[in-house]
Amino acid sequence: MKRFLMGVLTTLVIGVALGVVTVYSGMFDVAADTPHSRFVYHLIETVRDQSIKRHARDLAVPANLADTERIRRGAGNYAAMCAACHLAPGRADSEIRMGLYPKPPDLTHPEEEAVADMAARHFWIIKHGIKASGMAAWSRGGIEDEGIWDLVAFIQKMPSLSVGQYVSLVESSEGHTHGGLPGMETMHTGDGHMPSLENTERHEHSHSGGHDH
Ligand code: HEC
Repeated sequence: MKRFLMGVLTTLVIGVALGVVTVYSGMFDVAADTPHSRFVYHLIETVRDQSIKRHARDLAVPANLADTERIRRGAGNYAAMCAACHLAPGRADSEIRMGLYPKPPDLTHPEEEAVADMAARHFWIIKHGIKASGMAAWSRGGIEDEGIWDLVAFIQKMPSLSVGQYVSLVESSEGHTHGGLPGMETMHTGDGHMPSLENTERHEHSHSGGHDH
């Protein structure tokens, strides 16, 4: 029994020592261009998915997510705030998306296995963000719940939109507008959606022009 306890204690001490060395030696590579091992990736993915599932389970999803008004309102905000990372019809890829790890999912081609409570999941993620991933908690930026549901409504619609339909929805939307940040509306109305639209159209040749590297 004594030998067994000594064995457990030694294992614990070695374990803690290894942990301390790993943390303080700087040997863990935090670079975004070095992928996690499969094990670590799977671990993080499971923690994330279980956490979102638990936190989003009691959300009441509005019945009118397919409303054209919601989709129209969501379009302008999506183009202004999300398309750079999550792409849009006619937008093949973006520099920031290529470099981010984890890579932001391409929301024009959602994964095959759609989760039943996808709307609640998306709402929760947009509102609260995901730690250490590049996905912001947009509620902190002043988007109110209704504006977030509009974005969820738009995201559900986007995979079926042609480039032309996308552009005209964004143009008919109120640009980059959402309640919450006093003064933001005046800063963004009018020009809010234009840069993203320009990006959609000019992305192909943006490497030779003003934006040199
Ligand atoms: C700077 C890049 C960036 C921007 C801008 C951004 N996101 Fe994200 N988003 C991410 C990343 C990265 C993830 C994946 C995080 C993870 O899986 O850990 C993500 C995940 C998501 C997901 C979850 C998709 C799924 O099913 O797993 C949704 C929905 C989403 N973002 C919506 C939005 C919306 C709406 C906006 C604009 C208001 C936005 N994002 C802006 C980087 C971004």
